[in-house]
Amino acid sequence: MADIHIEAAKKNLEKKGFLDIDIDVNLDLFAEIERLKKEKNAIILAHYYQEPDIQDVADFIGDSLGLAQKAQSTDADIIVFAGVHFMAETAKILNPQKKVLLPDLKAGCSLSDSAPPELFKKFRDKYPDHIVITYINCSAGMKALSDIICTSSNAQAIIESLPKDQKIIFAPDKNLGAYLKKKTGREMVLWNGACIVHEIFSLEKITKLKIRHPKAKVIAHPECEEPVLRIADFIGSTTSLLKYTIENDAQEFIVVTETGILHQMQIQSPGKTFIPAPPDNMCACNDCPYMKLNTLEKLYLCMEYEEPKIIMDEELLIASKKPIERMLEISHRYGL
Ligand code: 13P
Ligand code: SF4
Repeated sequence: MADIHIEAAKKNLEKKGFLDIDIDVNLDLFAEIERLKKEKNAIILAHYYQEPDIQDVADFIGDSLGLAQKAQSTDADIIVFAGVHFMAETAKILNPQKKVLLPDLKAGCSLSDSAPPELFKKFRDKYPDHIVITYINCSAGMKALSDIICTSSNAQAIIESLPKDQKIIFAPDKNLGAYLKKKTGREMVLWNGACIVHEIFSLEKITKLKIRHPKAKVIAHPECEEPVLRIADFIGSTTSLLKYTIENDAQEFIVVTETGILHQMQIQSPGKTFIPAPPDNMCACNDCPYMKLNTLEKLYLCMEYEEPKIIMDEELLIASKKPIERMLEISHRYGL
């Protein structure tokens, strides 16, 4: 009977994005996940935006660069990626021989969706003498059209590693692109993409919060819009935001990024106060709806049944690998 349910769930996988199987409510999912890790020599890599329970069972929690580096160096047989699709896809590109599992295949990314490869190719072809630097938040199809991939941790170093007169296209995030133009003083052609989570923060509400908490430091992710970044005391990737809260003497922080990061901030600095920045509406839109599609139940199911997994076309795998490897080489060179 149970096998019939599993077969039906596998048939529905494409439609649902995950294995829709009932789990015994008495099952200790934390213990089961630990058992599966050992039995299958599996590693769980989780992004900081994942829900706290997932972060607590992960072997490694990191930002996009840290996760790609860990995916490249792991000797585990199975990589379980608790993050969004482009992250798991990057892990697969770096490990074509390994099984890479993603708890919910529908965990996408608005920023990645804002750059369809067919349209981007036409755009890129208008600038034949430009190098294409593409933010890792994109599909493998976009990566294959790029020269170098970057993340929020290494974008500045990657741009500055190129000769000053080198013309650059930066895609897909226009906010990160504008921030980098300002930081590096380099002229870059920008693609018009954005992240729905980071675009929604309200400058007015953050300013009011700052008046109520005058000693609080405002820390923001560079995917936010320019007016929000202008009032930030510190701007950086999720890992650098976390590091800043550990090292800075301030006791209060207004955190302008996805709320998942607050879990590690609270663990690392239990005495400090972290205030999630309010979005520009009434809902909790500073939760990434894609990241939050993954749950502990789906994580357990994907490890137990080894589905859903990332499957990629061989040609695309090869074409998208080179720009990721270039990013990892440059990052290594700069000690990032
Ligand atoms: P980082 O992991 O580079 O901080 O980027 C955040 C993000 O939006 C991931 O989707
Ligand atoms: Fe994509 Fe934004 Fe979600 Fe990151 S937070 S996965 S950029 S939609």
